[in-house]
Amino acid sequence: MNILMVCLGNICRSPLAEGIMQHKIKERGLNWTVDSAGTGDWHSGDLPDRRSIETAHKHGIDLSQQRARQIRKADFEAFDHILVMDASNYQNVSQLTQNETHRAKIELILNYATPGRNQQVPDPYYGGDEGFEQVFQMLDLACEKFLEQYA
Ligand code: 4NP
Repeated sequence: MNILMVCLGNICRSPLAEGIMQHKIKERGLNWTVDSAGTGDWHSGDLPDRRSIETAHKHGIDLSQQRARQIRKADFEAFDHILVMDASNYQNVSQLTQNETHRAKIELILNYATPGRNQQVPDPYYGGDEGFEQVFQMLDLACEKFLEQYA
């Protein structure tokens, strides 16, 4: 199983999602891979946001090896599940696809926590540190439910 986590900048939400899923994969000894990317390229090569790094660290998860990158067409072949944070990510990622097989891989990540509700992970970039902890909790639950379904 290969999973790609996607947000806008690949510095706040999807790095947390990658770190959380990676941690759970390791705990379970699964032979899965997880990566993350942004729909935009402004932050390519950057470390995750300091607040994402600190929030993950509080939960025993290290994001410091991650570097931002933009999603590319080859990702639709390389990954089985492309989990996006919000409706805008969903639209931007969908626009890069060229067939229904690839489109079917795109899902809102919170539909694993709250099926069928199309809930979105809010962008914490312009808020305070507490927004990052809320995002962490949402992503942690969604990753746990994803594992319950597929592991
Ligand atoms: P992310 O948050 O999509 O969760 O990484 C953002 C980070 C940076 C920007 C937007 C969203 N930005 O516009 O620079």
